[in-house]
Amino acid sequence: MSNAKTIKKAVLPVAGLGTRFLPATKAIPKEMLPIVDTPLVEFAVREAIEAGIEEIIFVTSHTKRSIEDHFDRNLELELKLSSSNKESYLDKVNLNEYEGIKFSFVRQRDQRGLGDAISQVSHLILPDEYFAILLADDLFDGNPGVTSQLMDAFKLHGKSIIAVNEVSEEETKKYGVISGELSGNLTSIEEIVEKPQSNPPSNLAVTGRYLLSGEIMEELKTLEPGFGNEIQLTDAIAKMLQKGEMLGLKYDALKFDCGSKEGFVQANIHFAKKQYIIS
Ligand code: UTP
Repeated sequence: MSNAKTIKKAVLPVAGLGTRFLPATKAIPKEMLPIVDTPLVEFAVREAIEAGIEEIIFVTSHTKRSIEDHFDRNLELELKLSSSNKESYLDKVNLNEYEGIKFSFVRQRDQRGLGDAISQVSHLILPDEYFAILLADDLFDGNPGVTSQLMDAFKLHGKSIIAVNEVSEEETKKYGVISGELSGNLTSIEEIVEKPQSNPPSNLAVTGRYLLSGEIMEELKTLEPGFGNEIQLTDAIAKMLQKGEMLGLKYDALKFDCGSKEGFVQANIHFAKKQYIIS
């Protein structure tokens, strides 16, 4: 029996083509590109686990097998590290945090957009169940992590909730944008539009962390392609909004858009400085 107020599953869509990082992403998934020494996707997985998630469901593709390998054990490597005085690396390749966490992988056969990616796991999410979505290419440095911040708000309000941040009007073209009046760090969402090319409803941009009701799957099923001829998660959220209140949370964290080269380089500089105290 699912408990609507407890969120234990997170979906991580990682099936995108990563076009903006070609040629690096010809043979390596974008999500496996490292921030200093840690693949981008590992940051999202650790953030989800910190927030109490127990089941990580990847939406993947045939070119992304290395992600499956990354979250599995590599016993040969572990044995070699143990027998060659390199034990200190052992906890890097088999994190304690993964103990008891279930990883599953579902394939998206055609890259038809984020909404289509999420709909691939509709059989794993019950309609009355809330679940998290984390887009690994949005990387946050927050304490606690942004997913934990969303969970705290969810525990109070029990409604679908999306992480948002303020961007310049020029930047709204690149994101889903909501409208609503912030009260403290929270707003009821009045409207949501994917990548508005003119007249954005506000400067509150959607970022890659969501806690959604499983009802979204029903909306995704009947959705026509939207912006960029892709099945847009934002459009399904807009339909859910007609049926009930959803919230936006202005999170407290630094964000790096690692889907772009600029954000990826900035994240590397930021975490390198933090990790190695380079001045
Ligand atoms: P992006 O819009 O960043 O697309 O996807 P992308 O393919 O990863 O990168 P570019 O734009 O070609 O450079 C946002 C998230 O949705 C996933 C991506 O893996 C990323 O986590 N996604 C996108 C899918 O899983 N499937 C899709 O069909 C599209």
